[in-house]
Amino acid sequence: MIETTDKLIHVGMIGLGLRGTSLLKDALDGHNNIKITVLCDISRDRLDIAKEEIALRNEPEPYVCTDYHEVLSHNDVDVVIIATGWETHVQIACEAMLSGKIVGCEVSGAYSVEDCWKLVHTYEKTHTPIMMLENCCYGRDELMLLNMVNQGVFGELVHCQGGYRHDIRSLCVDDCGLDHFRIKHFSARNCDYYPTHDLGPIAKLLGIGKGNRLLSLVSVASKAVGLNSYAIRNKGTDDAKSNVRIAQGDVITTTIKCSGGETIVLFLDTTLPRFYSRGLQVQGTLGMYCEDNLSVYIDNEENAKLDTNWSSQWGNVEQYRKDYDHPLWRSFSEKKEKGGHDGMDRIMLNVFFDAIRTGSHMPIDVYDMADWKCVTVLSEQSILQGGAPCLFPDFRNGRWVMD
Ligand SMILES: NC(=O)c1ccc[n+]([C@@H]2O[C@H](COP(=O)([O-])OP(=O)(O)OC[C@H]3O[C@@H](n4cnc5c(N)ncnc54)[C@H](O)[C@@H]3O)[C@@H](O)[C@H]2O)c1
Repeated sequence: MIETTDKLIHVGMIGLGLRGTSLLKDALDGHNNIKITVLCDISRDRLDIAKEEIALRNEPEPYVCTDYHEVLSHNDVDVVIIATGWETHVQIACEAMLSGKIVGCEVSGAYSVEDCWKLVHTYEKTHTPIMMLENCCYGRDELMLLNMVNQGVFGELVHCQGGYRHDIRSLCVDDCGLDHFRIKHFSARNCDYYPTHDLGPIAKLLGIGKGNRLLSLVSVASKAVGLNSYAIRNKGTDDAKSNVRIAQGDVITTTIKCSGGETIVLFLDTTLPRFYSRGLQVQGTLGMYCEDNLSVYIDNEENAKLDTNWSSQWGNVEQYRKDYDHPLWRSFSEKKEKGGHDGMDRIMLNVFFDAIRTGSHMPIDVYDMADWKCVTVLSEQSILQGGAPCLFPDFRNGRWVMD
């Protein structure tokens, strides 16, 4: 733990690709009383770009390296932020916890259930704080909904829906080489490979880990034709991307059952033409929220009386800000702050550094991380077995009943 609340926090960044550089900027610009002391990437070009960001802000020049072990043994690092490719997260995060460096780790799905247990066991052995940097938990609507749910506005929750519905065909075909982690994944696996942006906020709304838990899931995959089709049209039939074998279905639909009786439906939908949406829906006994038409529908309110003409109420979500906007967002907007992904990245980092300073429990802890990442492996197993139910391990070993 950082000993005093005003101590400068020394940060080492591992992985400075697109995301790492964006987090670096938000960390530097977020008034968090931090200093970036070490930068690490296997690519010298990426290190140069990151160094430039630091120089632009007249911050002291950091130590740079290409081997993350140097970050973990560096005396001038309290905290590491990991934004490498998916396949390295668990290994680096566990080694960091063992070296006593507090961890902020980017999002990804797991490669095995054992990896999820490895995170949990390493945390339980070391008690080094670790937070998964799931920024979507800090979206304005997601936090407002948390407020509304806690105040009982939607009544008893029954069903939630969400998705990672983001057309990343151009990113995969135009910007990633054949050895990039995304392409390697797409050609080898078929699963909900990116479940945390949608499941994270829903798990917080449903109190997963606090009297509720994820019990089981079933997943089904569509065929896998979107990426090759896009590559053929944009690169020609001879291009390597047009011929790479894709195993990853274009649309994966997963249904999760919770111990509290609620159901969750998740959509992974990233290789067909579509608009961006996390498609969040929340339904309880008293009302509903729907992201795709930015609306809230509450029994007995004016909008419910107009139910025959319900579409006239679409887009009414702003009416609820006055009463339910989350304090984090209220203060962020009042200060006219900015930041990545409309501000949620900056808010997430503020929360992370605040938890470090105050020594409070990480708001997205190792058990959340294991639960959410595990969906990737369980969905893969379910799809392989034609949509068979797969059980979630109880990573909290029963403590979810009491917490
Ligand atoms: N939360 C979000 O909104 C969000 C957005 C984009 C990406 N991400 C996540 O961030 C992570 C990185 O994604 P990206 O788009 O920046 O990918 P990227 O390929 O652009 O960057 C990954 C970087 O990690 C470096 N790297 C790989 N192995 C390394 C190692 N062993 N040591 C040091 N550096 C290493 C690579 O050289 C590269 O620069 C992924 O987990 C991705 O899912 C999250």
